[in-house]
Amino acid sequence: MTSPTVRDLPELRKSRGAYFTPPAIAEFLAAWAIDHSPVATVLDPTCGEAVFLAAAGRQLVSAGTAPAVLDRQVFGVDLHQASLEAAMGTLEAEGLDARLEAGDFFSFPTPNQVGCTLPAMDAVIGNPPFVRYQQHIGEARKRSAAAALAQGVRLSGLASSWAALLVHACGFLKPEGRLAIVLPAELLTVHYAEPVRRWLRERFAAVHLVLFERLQFEEALEKVVLVTAQGSGGCEAFSLYQVESAQDLGKLRPFDHFNVTPAAEGKWTELLLPVRSRQLFKGVTSEHFSSLGDYGAPELGTVTGANDYFALSEETRLAFSLDRNQVARISPPGTKHLQGLSFTRHQWERLRESGEPVWMLQPPLDDATPELLSYLAHGERLGVPDGYKCQMRTPWWRPPLVSPPDLFFTYMSHRYPRLVTNSARASFVNSMHGVRLRPGTPDEASVALPLLALNSVTLLGAEIFGRSYGGGVLKMEPREAALLPVPRPDSLRAAWRQLKPERAGLDRQLQAGRWAAVSRRVDEVLLSEGLGLDASDVTSLRAAATSLRARRLGAG
Ligand SMILES: C[S@@+](CC[C@H](N)C(=O)[O-])C[C@H]1O[C@@H](n2cnc3c(N)ncnc32)[C@H](O)[C@@H]1O
Repeated sequence: MTSPTVRDLPELRKSRGAYFTPPAIAEFLAAWAIDHSPVATVLDPTCGEAVFLAAAGRQLVSAGTAPAVLDRQVFGVDLHQASLEAAMGTLEAEGLDARLEAGDFFSFPTPNQVGCTLPAMDAVIGNPPFVRYQQHIGEARKRSAAAALAQGVRLSGLASSWAALLVHACGFLKPEGRLAIVLPAELLTVHYAEPVRRWLRERFAAVHLVLFERLQFEEALEKVVLVTAQGSGGCEAFSLYQVESAQDLGKLRPFDHFNVTPAAEGKWTELLLPVRSRQLFKGVTSEHFSSLGDYGAPELGTVTGANDYFALSEETRLAFSLDRNQVARISPPGTKHLQGLSFTRHQWERLRESGEPVWMLQPPLDDATPELLSYLAHGERLGVPDGYKCQMRTPWWRPPLVSPPDLFFTYMSHRYPRLVTNSARASFVNSMHGVRLRPGTPDEASVALPLLALNSVTLLGAEIFGRSYGGGVLKMEPREAALLPVPRPDSLRAAWRQLKPERAGLDRQLQAGRWAAVSRRVDEVLLSEGLGLDASDVTSLRAAATSLRARRLGAG
């Protein structure tokens, strides 16, 4: 592969998603796609400097294709003219050839559309550009979304550029054609890729994934997955291969894979786990765990429509002489103040004294006191009643209060989602979820769950069931939070008996940020001593949670 031209600045390369593929990966994918056929037609829709096209040319020639006809079988498109010049240089230096087209690949109609200038392909290979939605904008985005929609895949505005490119490129494949492509590993995890995951299952007769243990694109800092797929008509299961690095691709053998049945809906994060950890997680959760939803359905907090106005500090309450019966006690918006295992009345009072918004406006419906009217006039001056949520409710000034739950659940997290006992019996706004324990759950559940949920199985479950958002944030909607595996009541009781005397100390450690040490202690008591898991199994579960967390945070 030749090096990028001198004038091709790093920022320009980044803006068009130009990260170049290690030759060992291109070789492997081209060989699989061409499958020894001397007559195969091959397309790289974003060919850059031709690492894939050269690999394809070599495969074809070794299968018996005459170099003179390569420009009728090998096709490359790229919008960067200088890359195409470098590409031609690469090919010619090896006595190879290809038909290269300069232009935006989305402006190339597929063979079943009017004006197509490229033939239907036996193979599509390559490494599409990875440009995140914030940069993938304007006309380019519109064209790409329309191209994907023409293939039946509706992408959201949050999709990165690779998603539409993949789908449009496959519009060039013959029904029995072969796809062999490098994609960001976020294909498996991010929410916006859900339509692509569904399409992969429904479009191809067989799909194989190759995952790497190590980062393969230093420059892009993005983990990748190789996707090879063939035929049409849909498939039930995928085959999954895991290798250390590109150097190990040559050692892959047929039948060396694991079959995985990816979820019809939601993410496929668990495919990122080594098979042993995945099986272990499934076994342990089905035998010893129930789900948070069995204890109580996670629910949304109050959506006020304007927290700055509806959540009041003590100072504001007094300044407007609002009475205690005109406000309700809440945990202030945000979750920064919830560092420990519980939110106590004492903590709430401290927050009140330090000026935090610990009240929510909640006057009686027939309230017409001058104090309230004065606060409402203040809101009107701020334009609060014009907000969407306020316009949707009558009266606009009374947000629907959610009564105090037994536990809070922090649903946007960097490290892991946390359960917090609501000892303050405060209500809450939608910066977290609430969990109200069902009748019949053990009495100790509301105090025991926050500590016991720090075990490695629950932490791993959060990575598996949560959604990874931009910046590495893990988000769990109530429906996903309900799936979180937590110890069954009998194991919960037994582990709590042992940990209760240590609770205060562990809480202090947690507040000091030493959560990993706390988690180890919980693993010891709950998983090792309580459930009798082998030390090696506990280590595998912890390592699996750590690796998914690191992968998620790395993606941010
Ligand atoms: C990740 S690089 C891959 C290049 C080459 N296939 C490789 O693997 O080394 C992506 C390439 O896509 C090109 N590109 C980006 N958007 C494109 C578009 N809409 N149409 C055609 N090429 C595009 C960039 O110029 C860049 O060369």
